[in-house]
Amino acid sequence: MTVFVLASANPDKASEIRDILGPGFDLLPRPGDVGEVDETGETLEDNARLKARALVVATGRPAIADDTGLEVDALGGAPGVRSARYSGAGATYESNVAKLLAELTGRSDRRARFRTVALAAWPDGREVVAEGSVQGVITDRVRGSGGFGYDPVFAPDGQHRTFAEMTAAEKNAWSHRGRAFRALAAQLGPV
Ligand code: IMP
Repeated sequence: MTVFVLASANPDKASEIRDILGPGFDLLPRPGDVGEVDETGETLEDNARLKARALVVATGRPAIADDTGLEVDALGGAPGVRSARYSGAGATYESNVAKLLAELTGRSDRRARFRTVALAAWPDGREVVAEGSVQGVITDRVRGSGGFGYDPVFAPDGQHRTFAEMTAAEKNAWSHRGRAFRALAAQLGPV
């Protein structure tokens, strides 16, 4: 079985990725002495590549990374690739959600999508890239306590519940990250 290093140190994301890929993948946690990678790319794919490549260089092993953005139609696709830092330096999940709800106050067009790029990279330069997205709406208030990030204000189309009102397994079945990593696993085949 190929052993991959998981580039994400965010425990919320790492636990979802482990659940989605399941026991067929041997994922090493990101070593504690590897610093945060600056997400300076212009696209989700650029940032996923930066994170995966940094871990390949640091460990000499194949690595898996992802980058996710929330694209809100009424905001011209923002916050997009800047979703983590939407409310500025020192942004938290709560401050980002508060800024998003404030920006959308009184707006009737609440359509949005989460998009994830998942990327596997090897020391010999090989790469496999997959994408997953989910359409939905931004709710007018925070609902639910599950998930993380923008989950309490995002309800996927066909669901009245937000991601934060779902179990972890339900979110993974619907989510951008579930779709991206299932597509990555399908491309990788048996590892
Ligand atoms: P990252 O750059 O992939 O770590 O994600 C950017 C930001 O998007 C994070 O800080 C979270 O606020 C948000 N985010 C990423 N994935 C999710 C998700 O599955 N649900 C809700 N918010 C997310």
